[in-house]
Amino acid sequence: MNWKNSLISRLEWSGEIININGKQKVAWEIAAKVKDGDILGVGSGSTSYLALVAIAERIKSEKLSVKAITTSIEISMFCSKFGVQQTSLFEHRPDWLFDGADEVDPDNNLIKGRGGAMFKEKLLMSSSPVNYIIVDESKMVQKLNTRFPVPVEVYPQALLHVEKELKQLGANSIVLRPAKGKDGSIITENNNLVLDCNFDEVYTGLEKDIKTITGVIESGLFIGYKPEILMAANN
Ligand code: 5RP
Repeated sequence: MNWKNSLISRLEWSGEIININGKQKVAWEIAAKVKDGDILGVGSGSTSYLALVAIAERIKSEKLSVKAITTSIEISMFCSKFGVQQTSLFEHRPDWLFDGADEVDPDNNLIKGRGGAMFKEKLLMSSSPVNYIIVDESKMVQKLNTRFPVPVEVYPQALLHVEKELKQLGANSIVLRPAKGKDGSIITENNNLVLDCNFDEVYTGLEKDIKTITGVIESGLFIGYKPEILMAANN
């Protein structure tokens, strides 16, 4: 599958009608922030992809020396495709990071992980001093878990235990994420499963409480990271 088809199938899977024009403008805003020598944290998803394309064009035309630390194999493959050099957290920490999100609340708390990459996304956001999140109006909510479930990455053999504990924390629906078009479940890049959960209430300590369950690798709740939100216009 070539990169265009891969992007299109991802957008079809998400069922999202994305506003390419508005996001494209923000992608250029992100590209304009790149400085020679920067180590960039690169998020996953269709919005991060647009920003990466814009950055790759700038790197190429201005012969910038920039390295990316990626959050998923998919975006890593796009970096290779577009000639963006890569490094890892073994060698570097990012100077800054860009990513998308599924929901943003008024305090800039996030739900991420529709692509199942929340473990590496959170690791990079924790490692980066400056974080930009690109969204459009459709991602803004008054309370998290309004439109999207909270994804929880789980070590497979811990599934039953984690489900029981999540219910104790107020999860009223827990769905094992299915792999589209195939029998079976989504397997993450870390060989784990994803549970999509709806909670009675996303209270302030919920992210930490989920993380303390043995068998949970990471959740898609990003509370208190205070990223800068870059809003894509609707036209
Ligand atoms: C992937 C993510 C994405 O950033 C999030 O799903 C938003 O994706 P998109 O930019 O395609 O709307 O968290 O794990």
